[in-house]
Amino acid sequence: MKHKQKIVVLSGAGISAESGIKTFRDADGLWEGHDVMEVATPQGFAKNPELVLNFYNQRRKQLLHVKPNKAHIALVDLERHFNISVVTQNVDDLHERAGSSNVIHIHGELLKVRSSVNVDAVLEWKKDLFLGDLCENGHQLRPHIVWFGEEVPLLTKAAELVQNADIVIIIGTSMQVYPAAGLVNYAQHGTPIYFVDPKPSIQKSDFENLTIIPETAVNGMPILVASLMDKIV
Ligand code: OAD
Repeated sequence: MKHKQKIVVLSGAGISAESGIKTFRDADGLWEGHDVMEVATPQGFAKNPELVLNFYNQRRKQLLHVKPNKAHIALVDLERHFNISVVTQNVDDLHERAGSSNVIHIHGELLKVRSSVNVDAVLEWKKDLFLGDLCENGHQLRPHIVWFGEEVPLLTKAAELVQNADIVIIIGTSMQVYPAAGLVNYAQHGTPIYFVDPKPSIQKSDFENLTIIPETAVNGMPILVASLMDKIV
């Protein structure tokens, strides 16, 4: 059998936009009506834990009502021809629900919670989370989300994947949040990079072998798939 090329997909909020989940920076600088610093920092959690838990309870509920879109599904279809790893900044589970085989969530997962003391005590969690919900050692549980200022435990693994990629695809991210935005720089010199985003934040001259597809994820993926298929036949 022919060796499959390795594609690493770096996805951001834009890939889930057409499923009905709002992006962070598109509207008015607010995330579902909240200042990001209020709901996505350890300081925000310390100041008003109830508000933060409630905010993620709403996000978790919303997730039950949305579905993967054609862009998530296109990435699954590509697995027939390529060895695909998805490194997502998204905390939703739409890549998994679409059927992607290899997904890592560098900013955590909405459907998991963890001890607020022990980073490794992680539990699956589909319901609401309240003050008083404790881990087995008696510590308050919190959303399993990497908040601003916190370490990104999966960064090394993600960087290694990008380093070994034959092709890198970036979809729907403003490339503003580090270290996630820096991952593309681990690609080997000359690796083909594709960027699908209606308002692309990087320019052709930023990378040696960059193709920008200035479309939404759902409209841009068929263009990208056609271009990738052209190259393997
Ligand atoms: P942003 O909201 O910063 O950027 C969303 C990107 O998606 C923008 O470049 C938009 O142009 C693009 N976009 C909008 N609609 C699109 C569509 N239909 N198809 C494709 N692209 C579209 O989201 P991220 O870059 O993912 O962290 O944000 C990075 C991190 O900031 C998030 O992971 C989150 C946040 O704070 C945490 O929650 C820890």
